[in-house]
Amino acid sequence: MTITLPTFTPLEDSLWLTLCGRALDNRSAHPILGDAMSDQIVRTLDYDYGRLNIDTNFRLSVALRAKKLDQVVADFLVRHPDAVVLDLGVGLDTRHARLTVPATADWYDVDFPAVVAVRERLIPAHPRRHAISADVRDSDWLDAVPTGRPAVIVADGLMGFLSEDEMASLWNRLINHFPSGELVFNAYTRFAVWVARHARGTKSVAGLMKFPGMDDPRDAEGWNPKLHLVREIVLSKEPEVAEFPPGWRLFQRLISHSTTLSRMASFVLHYRF
Ligand SMILES: C[S@@+](CC[C@H](N)C(=O)[O-])C[C@H]1O[C@@H](n2cnc3c(N)ncnc32)[C@H](O)[C@@H]1O
Repeated sequence: MTITLPTFTPLEDSLWLTLCGRALDNRSAHPILGDAMSDQIVRTLDYDYGRLNIDTNFRLSVALRAKKLDQVVADFLVRHPDAVVLDLGVGLDTRHARLTVPATADWYDVDFPAVVAVRERLIPAHPRRHAISADVRDSDWLDAVPTGRPAVIVADGLMGFLSEDEMASLWNRLINHFPSGELVFNAYTRFAVWVARHARGTKSVAGLMKFPGMDDPRDAEGWNPKLHLVREIVLSKEPEVAEFPPGWRLFQRLISHSTTLSRMASFVLHYRF
């Protein structure tokens, strides 16, 4: 398949980091996520991932956080087979294909128009997976999403690009749109934002990061009275760390004793409303 890619904006270009992180995980000796479709997309596009300087730490972290986000969505779908799923800032992620999605659930992938156009050429269509071409900061795109059903909203790699006001206003619109639901995304502390601005693997997006960082996940509960923290998922404490290469396993085990150090990479926040 020959696909000529449009020129993405730097913000859209950030999708390569996570896509290639998952593809490289799939090519590793012991994949954490094992996302063969991401790998296939990178091969199809013959994308030069070498220029991204993806290191082992970044690859493991991207794969593990995707797995944790997948687990929250999968668990919600078991409890609510009629749910609406929103994958915000979806990039070229293939989360829908990684999960067993009930035939009664509707899934919405949201990203900028140029990204959605490329997705549609690369990722096979599904009758209940819908695409929305939009800037999530705009208020009208949610009009296309059914209301009155429980929703699970997932965002992998998006929140760092929103300011705190943009994030709070997005969450309020989402919470007001659905009767109940859950929100899960990877977050950053203030220190982690500083690290991301300087680390080799994420330097390419450093200038685009607007989120100042969140040191106390409960702070977000103040944005809407319906919002409650379910769980903070610190990646270094998750069982999959046992499958990391020995040096990285030891490193994660050591930092797992300190919440501050464990949150140095992104961690996952899970809320309900
Ligand atoms: C780091 S990438 C992550 C992509 C995907 N979630 C993944 O895990 O591979 C961030 C994505 O968010 C999208 N994005 C950033 N800001 C956005 C906005 N305001 N509205 C819609 N999409 C946005 C970008 O186009 C990009 O696809």
